[in-house]
Amino acid sequence: MHRRSLPFPALALAAALAWAPVASHAQAPAGKVKVGFMLPYTGTYAALGTAIENGFRLYVQEQGGRLGGREVEYFKVDDESDPAKAPENASKLVKRDQVDVVVGTVHSGVQMGIVKVARENNTLLIIPNAGVDEATGPLCAPNIFRSSFSNWQPGYAMGQVVASRGLKRVVTLTWKYAAGEQSVKGFKEAFEAKGGKVVKELSLPFPNVEFQAQITEIASLKPDAVFVFFAGGGAVKFVKDWAAAGLKDKIPLFASGFLTDGTLEAQGAAAQGLETTLHYGDGLANARDKAFRLEYAKAYKLQPDVYAVQGYDAAQLLAAGAGAVKGDMTRKAEVYKAMEAARVDSPRGAFTLSKAHNPVQDFYLRKVDGRENKVSGVAVRALADPARGCRL
Ligand code: BEZ
Repeated sequence: MHRRSLPFPALALAAALAWAPVASHAQAPAGKVKVGFMLPYTGTYAALGTAIENGFRLYVQEQGGRLGGREVEYFKVDDESDPAKAPENASKLVKRDQVDVVVGTVHSGVQMGIVKVARENNTLLIIPNAGVDEATGPLCAPNIFRSSFSNWQPGYAMGQVVASRGLKRVVTLTWKYAAGEQSVKGFKEAFEAKGGKVVKELSLPFPNVEFQAQITEIASLKPDAVFVFFAGGGAVKFVKDWAAAGLKDKIPLFASGFLTDGTLEAQGAAAQGLETTLHYGDGLANARDKAFRLEYAKAYKLQPDVYAVQGYDAAQLLAAGAGAVKGDMTRKAEVYKAMEAARVDSPRGAFTLSKAHNPVQDFYLRKVDGRENKVSGVAVRALADPARGCRL
């Protein structure tokens, strides 16, 4: 049919059909994939934020600086581990910088603010540390993924270990916010199911490091063992204070692995022999981990820790999504589907995601030896968070 003989609406439709496939599928859109880091770069968790960013950037560098065929551009906000500033900080990345994905954060309270903004804007969110149970529980969503753990997981694993040692009366101590409280809840669930009893739950506000009152109370309670959650700078101070109070060889101390990950250089002799549970550790002896450690050490002149691994795996997860759509991050449903189906070849050991988008992974038992959290066994294999309240 001659072109001029078409009525106007038909002509418009023909033009649209001719154009549509080119615009939507055949080629990646122009421009870069925009990644927004919302992480702590100051305060007690500053080193954790830097390790996550280092790990993420390392994986992208290994892909020639590209994901899904497109170059990656980074945006950064220091969240200061301050929950009050979280919605505003997340909005800067989502609305002002128009990022394709937010990668954040470390602190569970801050995470709640990011989750809110991500849900409201259907922005892809990859959580590279914060374990807040709600993010992959009642607030789970198609666009929210985690490359780390839920707070419940390492606590639950340690509850099993302590119960298996025949210890009966345990006191817990943590900062009073979701990460600590939910770790203790996981610990208690496993420990009490096997006949143990948490006789006292102690806490202090985040990020206080004046532990003396709690340490004195623990000494007077004389429990069989103590379970704690601390991380970053606060973990360094707690481990030193515990040893200085003379309790190190008197009351067995157990923790989720954050107590001794990335902190051993500063903790020194005070940390020797401490046992923790975590989804990463030293001496895993898998080829993927060996290569990762070598490349990380070359790039940053540092040994990686669990936070670096979680950052690296956040980038791997994003690569699975971006690769499936050849970098066209506007095809959100396809990005999410590919991420859901990903098998992440992690230095911690390969993992897949649960329906709620949380890693199903092994939790290792580790023991501090020199500057290492040496893996001594698997505390719980393929542990999945129960994802209570998630309706995906
Ligand atoms: C959290 O707030 O979820 C968290 C912080 C540091 C280490 C582990 C968990």
